[in-house]
Amino acid sequence: MRSDLDNPSKPRVWLTGASYGIGRAVALEYALRGAFIGLTARSEDLLSDLLSEIREAGGDGLVLAGDVKDLDAMHRNAETMRNHAGGIDILIANAGSHLPSEVESFDAEQYMGLMSLNYAGSLNCIQAVLPEMLKAGRGHIVGVASLAGYRGVPSAAAYGASKAALIHFLESLRFHIEPKGVEVTIVNPGFVRTPLTDKNDFKMPFLIEADKAARIICNGIQRGRREITFPFLFASFIKLLRIVPMSLYIALMKKTWKRMQQG
Ligand SMILES: NC(=O)c1ccc[n+]([C@@H]2O[C@H](COP(=O)([O-])OP(=O)(O)OC[C@H]3O[C@@H](n4cnc5c(N)ncnc54)[C@H](OP(=O)(O)O)[C@@H]3O)[C@@H](O)[C@H]2O)c1
Repeated sequence: MRSDLDNPSKPRVWLTGASYGIGRAVALEYALRGAFIGLTARSEDLLSDLLSEIREAGGDGLVLAGDVKDLDAMHRNAETMRNHAGGIDILIANAGSHLPSEVESFDAEQYMGLMSLNYAGSLNCIQAVLPEMLKAGRGHIVGVASLAGYRGVPSAAAYGASKAALIHFLESLRFHIEPKGVEVTIVNPGFVRTPLTDKNDFKMPFLIEADKAARIICNGIQRGRREITFPFLFASFIKLLRIVPMSLYIALMKKTWKRMQQG
């Protein structure tokens, strides 16, 4: 599938979760490619600093601070971006967080809180751009989910469920909007070094740096990939685990998790 945007090399990109981590690296990568980038996150000061860096690197954009859980704020951000840039070619719904799932302190409200950020937050941004994209008959929606969304993994009951929901939603949405000219890309990273993973107290196999992840994501989007998974070996292993029978999956995952905890 090829991107059918007017000028794929200089897209107008609205990116959430842009203030640090993978989002920040994606913003800088797009800056090198000369894009116009709308930057959303809650930390307005970090976004302002990032915008200066983007301009130095040859890109341009604007700060669209806000909480993705606030639907009205996301509508306002999308409107501001359209007014400034004349449109939105690509939405990258990347804002998200992680909550290690401890059974002893299980709290349904906390789990739903993560769902409202990782899942509903992405949906809010999609709602803010989709009608205009459908009207124009073109556009590209990118959702950043996770390899943890494929099957249940230890310590990720809350996180994995929210990412599984996002993957499922986007896979279904695609059937309705691709025939009308709006592309869908699902990004499923493995472990990437960011403030999110800095909190993990286990060994993360095939951990990669955020700038490398950003290059893979931007290349994949530019090529119109429907799914972007990385790093290759780890993603292939996790994908294979999707099709093994439950008893074998449990045995393999227990062994892998034990190794990861041993460091
Ligand atoms: N790192 C990994 O290994 C990995 C692997 C698979 C998938 N992912 C996914 O990739 C995405 C980025 O992860 P990351 O590792 O870069 O995480 P991160 O370092 O924690 O960065 C998260 C970003 O999301 C923003 N954010 C958090 N809550 C928000 C809210 N309510 N409204 C708006 N923005 C919000 C944060 O900015 P503010 O705090 O300023 O709002 C920050 O810019 C997430 O969806 C994550 O689940 C990451």
